[in-house]
Amino acid sequence: MNRPKVARPETGVDTGPSARATVAILDFGSQYTQLIARRVRESRVYCEIFPHDVTLSELRAKNVIGVILSGGPASVYEPDAPDIDPSILAGGIPVLGICYGMQLMAHVLGGDVVAEGKREYGPATVEIAEHAGIFEGLGSHERAWVSHGDTVRRPPAGFTVIARSETVPIAAMSDGGTRFAVQFHPEVAHTPHGAEILRNFLYRVCGAVGDWTPAAFVDEAVSELGAKIGDRHAICALSGGVDSAVAAALVARAIGDRLTCVFVDTGLLRQNEAKEVVATFGPRMRLHVVNAAESFLEKLAGVDDPERKRAIIGEEFVRRFEAAARMEGFISEGGEKGLLVQGTIYPDVIESRSRDSKTSARIKTHHNVGGLPEVMSLEIVEPLRRLFKDEVRRVGAELGIPEDILWRHPFPGPGLAVRVIGAVDRERLDMLRRADAIYIEELRAADLYRTVAQAFAVLTPVRSVGVQGDFRTYGSLLALRAVTTEDFMTADWARLPYDLIERVSARIVNEVPGVNRVVYDVSSKPPATIEWE
Ligand code: XMP
Repeated sequence: MNRPKVARPETGVDTGPSARATVAILDFGSQYTQLIARRVRESRVYCEIFPHDVTLSELRAKNVIGVILSGGPASVYEPDAPDIDPSILAGGIPVLGICYGMQLMAHVLGGDVVAEGKREYGPATVEIAEHAGIFEGLGSHERAWVSHGDTVRRPPAGFTVIARSETVPIAAMSDGGTRFAVQFHPEVAHTPHGAEILRNFLYRVCGAVGDWTPAAFVDEAVSELGAKIGDRHAICALSGGVDSAVAAALVARAIGDRLTCVFVDTGLLRQNEAKEVVATFGPRMRLHVVNAAESFLEKLAGVDDPERKRAIIGEEFVRRFEAAARMEGFISEGGEKGLLVQGTIYPDVIESRSRDSKTSARIKTHHNVGGLPEVMSLEIVEPLRRLFKDEVRRVGAELGIPEDILWRHPFPGPGLAVRVIGAVDRERLDMLRRADAIYIEELRAADLYRTVAQAFAVLTPVRSVGVQGDFRTYGSLLALRAVTTEDFMTADWARLPYDLIERVSARIVNEVPGVNRVVYDVSSKPPATIEWE
């Protein structure tokens, strides 16, 4: 195949606001760093996570109005303990140290940190000694979540103790001005008034104004996108998922029909999905629909290895997208560079940063069908790269995208091909589609769709004996999966009510010919994964 030159852009157009007042979260390796960021954003204050070795001048360039130091597993006395540019702690900028962040503050500013020799972990009661600054409006005793090894034994000069607990004499300290530190974790739900502590820091200490709202983001992003894209054209692979839909709608608001969305109907989508995408997006943006079910199914015929399926689908998708891009004039030898819109969101950015620095076993190849930069000479636009998922949904609502699309469960790029276990054909895809639609319909009717993170049916190659009416059957085994999870890295099986499972099972065996047995998957991740393939 004659492919355009491979040109992977080094940098993309990043519409992350830089003029906006920002709170910086310095990451010292805590499992809660992202959670701190989400709590700050929930308080309507914009924040970003930075590596711990960022410098004060880099922060100043980002219009940083306050700094939060995350916790972390290290001890300040370890030889490779993560450190900090000391000028950040000099008092010119408000700082809140959390756990390791507190120990590091004490250590760098000349206090004493001691290794306790054991880790303290769990709930604690903290006695507040000074109800000013971050503790304004709190009770005299507050429940808090602790998880630490070292503690501060003597605060640095100029600091006083503002809270203590039974086991930790210095549970919080402050310089009486803009520098605070807590030995516990205000960001977790187990610290019931933790959000107030963070809000006090943001509003009373940093002087934040609470202007991080979906409407403000849309206004800013639209004007930045307009300025950056100028009079060029952009293209976007629309999957029907939340992220690509919101990214496309945002760019369309900025450049109108100079954005072309390509939607490839792979024949591997859920019931009515293609129709819904066309009905929702057709009227609001320039939509190029590619009906490619035939060729996807042809290429998948007889293939039962999951990774082969993924590779075939990924390749076919790229070919189809390229063909559409060529038709739309986006690919021409030596032509002007166009732009490719992708729905990358903040957790993807943070994760790929940490993936680059760690080796992790490859479990499944995830083809994000929104992303095709390897084969196209296009500059990338990622207008959502600073947003968390819940923020993407709020921005989508602000842009008028229907709730149904915004709250859809994630759907894998290879679609139903990885939910028909074994070889895929039209008949088995239809069986799965019908069963899945019944399951989702009942889940919605029971008002449980939004309480689970993902729910779907899986058609297994197992056949078993049954009896329906007066006849013996030998039909397919269908599995129902529903999971709860925050981040999809780990997940638990959802405790759906028995009567719901019963209703779904009865309807499926009655309404989907060929299925005579339904099972419910009670595996968590790990050791299982969410999808079966
Ligand atoms: P697993 O099965 O790895 O899934 O626990 C975690 C999340 O990723 C989705 N998933 C995929 N998404 N292409 C995608 O775009 C894929 O090949 C793929 N495989 C799994 C899965 O639905 C879940 O949300």
